[in-house]
Amino acid sequence: MAAVVGPPMVRRFNLEHVQGIGAVSGSLPPSRLINDDTTRTLLYYLGARRADRAPVHHNADYDEVIVFAAGPGNYGAISTPGTVTWTPKGLIHQGPEEDVPEGYVAWLLETRATLKATPAALDISRLMETSQWGVHATDGEVTTR
Ligand SMILES: [Fe+2]
Repeated sequence: MAAVVGPPMVRRFNLEHVQGIGAVSGSLPPSRLINDDTTRTLLYYLGARRADRAPVHHNADYDEVIVFAAGPGNYGAISTPGTVTWTPKGLIHQGPEEDVPEGYVAWLLETRATLKATPAALDISRLMETSQWGVHATDGEVTTR
């Protein structure tokens, strides 16, 4: 624990140098990268790590945004760097296996804000299956507007 007198310290780090923590057994929450004293916005490292798969859950207080940054491994069905997923608060989901030997880099942003897709985002978005993080079988059959 460190105490600072005066204005907050500016903390800098290279996201490429962040290493996830793992567990021999059991599930493990992702490593938090940035603390927001208001708890309105939280940022986590969500890269490949040794741990049991996360349980089925819903996040009542936060929309979850995941950015898949790099492989070579996949995050569920996602293999394209720059892919962004959005799980609105309250939506039940599990997420894919994160113990991926090939490795990948991803980040998780949790926000208490209620996000809303713009028309442009809806035009390029796909409906997601929330267990394997792939495109849902009904994508294209239902409208999200
Ligand atoms: Fe989640």
